[in-house]
Amino acid sequence: MEVVIVPDSATGGELIAEAMAALLRRKPDALLGVSTGSTPLPVYKALAAKVRDFEVDASHARICQLDEYVGLPSGHPEAYRSVVLREVVEPLGLTDASFMGPDGSADDVAAACLDYERALAEAGGVDLQLLGIGTDGHIGFNEPCSSLASRTRIKTLTEQTRQDNARFFKGVEEVPHHVITQGIGTILQARHLVLLATGEAKAHAVALAVEGPLSALVPASALQLHPHATVVVDEAAASSLK
Ligand code: F6R
Repeated sequence: MEVVIVPDSATGGELIAEAMAALLRRKPDALLGVSTGSTPLPVYKALAAKVRDFEVDASHARICQLDEYVGLPSGHPEAYRSVVLREVVEPLGLTDASFMGPDGSADDVAAACLDYERALAEAGGVDLQLLGIGTDGHIGFNEPCSSLASRTRIKTLTEQTRQDNARFFKGVEEVPHHVITQGIGTILQARHLVLLATGEAKAHAVALAVEGPLSALVPASALQLHPHATVVVDEAAASSLK
C-alpha cells in the first residue's frame, strides 16, 4: 500500500484526477468506480477541468457506482444515482449509457445485487475504484464486521453513518436505513484502489486502516490485501499516522 500525504483536499483531488486521466489516455474506455459523499468532489471537479481543457478525452470512459441507498424514490436528489449523474457523468460530458449502478428501488433487492455483480463482471471489472472512508472505517457501505470476502448485498447503516450523512438530508430521520453496497471482496477485485481521506474526523479511521491489523472491524484495512492500493490523505487525516 502506498500512502501519499498532500497539503489539502484540492491537491489530493488533482493528484487522483491526474491518475484517472493517465488511465484514460492508456485505456480510453476504462471503467472508473466512483464513490459519493463530500470527499471525492475535488477529484470530480479536477477531472472535469482536465476534460474541458482538452488534457484528456473522457468521451469513452465508463462510470460505475459503489453503493446506493435502498428505498429512495427514483430521481431523489440524494439517491447516489442522481449524485453521480450530477457530479461525475454530466460534468464529464457523458451520457447515462456510460454509467451503471445497483437499483436501489428494485422490488427484489437481492436480485438487484446479483444483477450488479454480473454487470460489473460483464463490463470486464473496475479499472480504478475511488473510495472514501467512514469515520467508523467503512468503505463503500461495508460497515464494521462486514466480511472481507463479501459481495454486493444489502447492508444496514450504523447510527454513526446515518448521523454523518444527515447533512445531505433535512434530518437524520430522512436518511435511509439500508443500502446496496459492493462487498469488500467485490471492491478488492478492482485493478487499482485509490482511497481519499481528508479532515481530522478521518484521522483515527485512516490510522487503523493503514497501520492497524487487518480486521473486519475496520473494513478499510482490507486495502492491505490489495496489490495496488493508494491512500491519499491530507495532513489533518494523516495526523494520527505514526
Ligand atoms: C459513499 C461511500 C462512503 C463514503 C464515506 C465517506 O459512496 O462509499 O464510504 O465514502 O461515508 O463519506 P464523506 O466523504 O462524505 O465523508
